Amino acid sequence: MSGDARKTAEGLSYLTGFGNEHASEAVPGALPEGRNSPQRAPLGLYAEQLSGTAFTEPRAHNRRSWLYRIRPSAAHPAFTRTDNGAIRTAPFTETVPDPNRLRWNPLPEPPAGTDFLAGLWTLGGNGDATQRSGVAVHLYHANSSMERVFSDADGELLIVPERGGLLLHTEFGRLHVEPAHVALIPRGVRFRVELLDESARGYVCENYGAPFQLPDLGPIGANGLANARDFRAPVAAYEDVEGPVEVVNKFCGNLWTATYDHSPLDVVAWHGNHVPYVYDLRRFNVIGTISYDHPDPSVFTVLTSPSDTPGLAGVDFVVFAPRWLVGEDTFRPPYFHRNVMSEYMGLIEGAYDAKAEGFVPGGGSLHNMMSAHGPDRETFDRASAAELRPQKIDDGLAFMFETRWPVTLTPQAAGADQLQRRYDDVWQGLERHFRAL
Ligand SMILES: [Fe+2]
Repeated sequence: MSGDARKTAEGLSYLTGFGNEHASEAVPGALPEGRNSPQRAPLGLYAEQLSGTAFTEPRAHNRRSWLYRIRPSAAHPAFTRTDNGAIRTAPFTETVPDPNRLRWNPLPEPPAGTDFLAGLWTLGGNGDATQRSGVAVHLYHANSSMERVFSDADGELLIVPERGGLLLHTEFGRLHVEPAHVALIPRGVRFRVELLDESARGYVCENYGAPFQLPDLGPIGANGLANARDFRAPVAAYEDVEGPVEVVNKFCGNLWTATYDHSPLDVVAWHGNHVPYVYDLRRFNVIGTISYDHPDPSVFTVLTSPSDTPGLAGVDFVVFAPRWLVGEDTFRPPYFHRNVMSEYMGLIEGAYDAKAEGFVPGGGSLHNMMSAHGPDRETFDRASAAELRPQKIDDGLAFMFETRWPVTLTPQAAGADQLQRRYDDVWQGLERHFRAL
């Protein structure tokens, strides 16, 4: 662990709220008053707009920010192709979509010197990045801080750390992210990842579709689930660095690289609502039954990427957070089900209440469209016989990327050593108990 880095990460200031207009300046007077693009921006800065949605999208969904920077982003040399490493992008066509229930152990240790970008490993996904639809599911395992800077034109990146703290240096400032937090880097925003511990491991949802937003609350009311005030955007912080900096740009599935003569993290002031943010999953306000049965897991949605069909998400980010179970005459773990949506699940810490073993932190499971799943036999037997006192589930933090289309695997995921070959066995031994009266 880097003591200096830990010191750096502590005491960061943040702006709170979700989707609202923020403003921040690292140097007093850097932010223009009353103009987005004045004839001459203050302090000799360049004004630049970064759009996260089309100019004409409805105001409620419109995302953009204005950046006031030492050099405009346009000042860069040509990009050239570089190796994609283990990163793959939709459309995923190298394997056929698999109806089987699948589960993986965590990624192995990477070679020394693996940074966040080199440590990204794509499990699979759906849609088409060039059509701005669908998702990719990535895992990462890194043991070195990034010296280079990365940006992703293909989508926003929802980073879900499972092991190791991260300090994200972004164009908008710095975000401190720990396991049980999630961080979002908007499409096109440049950043580098500094490791705060010896290694870092976790998950990434690369969302090609509409930016994640908070779900509507309907009859829940004005409060609950993830509260807007708990989302934290960074305050402006900039690097005034002259000298070679490698910038890697992911564009339509390929990595491109260029060596700038300065750091592109040179934004001195900014305002807008297209911003990176961090959210502590322990702040999630869990809604559940206080009578019987339990609501569908959509009630655990933290963020949703809407599609063109109302209520049908391109992808939902769902968390299974500590909560009380009090339902009377209720099978309390997740019920058996078949879902038109496809579910990739990961585990951040502890255990998940639908599985007795085999689903481990850093691992993951995939239950594609209409695949039948639910509690394993041990969990079913235990929950069916349990005495239904109020029970606190506080030993685990699991999450789900739930997406409208099946997730097609990359060959590296389909053939991975960490793929559990006997996952189906967890549903073996579910005996028949039926007796016609
Ligand atoms: Fe499920």
